[in-house]
Amino acid sequence: MQNLNAKKDLMQILNEHGFSRRDFLKWSSGMATMLGLGVTFAPNIANAVENASNTPVIWLHMAECTGCSESLLRSDAPTIDSLIFDYLNIEYHETVMAASGHQADENLENAIKKHAGKYVLLVEGAVPAGSSSFYLTLGSKGHTGEEIAKKACENAEAILAIGTCSSFGGIQAAAPNPTNAVPISKITNKSVINVPGCPPSEKNIVGSVLQLLLFGSMALDNFNRPKWAYEHRIHDYCERRGHFDAGEFVESFGDEGAKKGYCLYKVGCKGPYTFNNCAKHRFNQHTNWPIGAGHGCIGCSEPDFWDSMQAFEEPLKNKSFRTFFNDATSDKIGIGVLTLTGVAIAAHATISTIKKDKE
Ligand code: SF4
Ligand code: F3S
Repeated sequence: MQNLNAKKDLMQILNEHGFSRRDFLKWSSGMATMLGLGVTFAPNIANAVENASNTPVIWLHMAECTGCSESLLRSDAPTIDSLIFDYLNIEYHETVMAASGHQADENLENAIKKHAGKYVLLVEGAVPAGSSSFYLTLGSKGHTGEEIAKKACENAEAILAIGTCSSFGGIQAAAPNPTNAVPISKITNKSVINVPGCPPSEKNIVGSVLQLLLFGSMALDNFNRPKWAYEHRIHDYCERRGHFDAGEFVESFGDEGAKKGYCLYKVGCKGPYTFNNCAKHRFNQHTNWPIGAGHGCIGCSEPDFWDSMQAFEEPLKNKSFRTFFNDATSDKIGIGVLTLTGVAIAAHATISTIKKDKE
């Protein structure tokens, strides 16, 4: 990533980090399967990656913690995904570029001018907007984040919101939202592909960019999330699902149930209401994920999760969720039905525990 703007050789980058061409081809097959394309698409994936250095990319940081960049870069042990990101033609990325001050401002202006209409814009972070936009003032000229993001959006060929802050506002927009933080989609009329998560996995970031490079578009759900990654509920692929169905629950952290890997619903897991692929693909080279580590899902890829999924360590009881049905019909389903479904899950947890107690 240090070689910003320099032409790099993909295999050289991979070899330097101990990956062979065979590893790369294996990765391409895995990525093709993950994107739902089938292994026959592996050569197309490999070609798209090898040509990716021709596509200019601008990555903006708005109001955020840089966790999304960190999820991707993993500088201590880079994965093939993060190395491939290294290989893209990154024209501007504040965290990793050497330039600062006036020079950084110039780099961004030049990149926007030089690649107008042709670059992919990735935005990390929410945008303090309107009369509160001064809360995010950046660079040597003191422009607001809103001004910078608007200009970058105007000239972009495609825009991806990376992370929940950029996609839905995130913690910055949580009540009472003191800086009037909004998602990037609220400051542009162009369509925005949302890749939420706090943070999203490196696979979801790289996979979405690759889909874009391969097809120029992708199927999205009601919240503009790529369906290949956000189509299924955490609950549907969770390794603890058998325990949920059997009524075996952790009642408090550290109890016997926790030691046995029981379901975390009663200690607040929001997996039944959350759409993401963490259960299948995990984080950090597939090593683990929140539920695997013993804490429930907190719904980090859902809109307004900081407000709507609280309390994180208690069940949601009878609250209703817009996201429960994640397809085009969801808007037509009454809140009552959604509420009933929420109640049904809570009821299952209670009834199955009663049954177990009787046994
Ligand atoms: Fe897994 Fe949570 Fe569903 Fe339990 S409630 S099965 S821990 S997703
Ligand atoms: Fe987020 Fe839940 Fe996955 S908290 S990382 S969507 S398991």
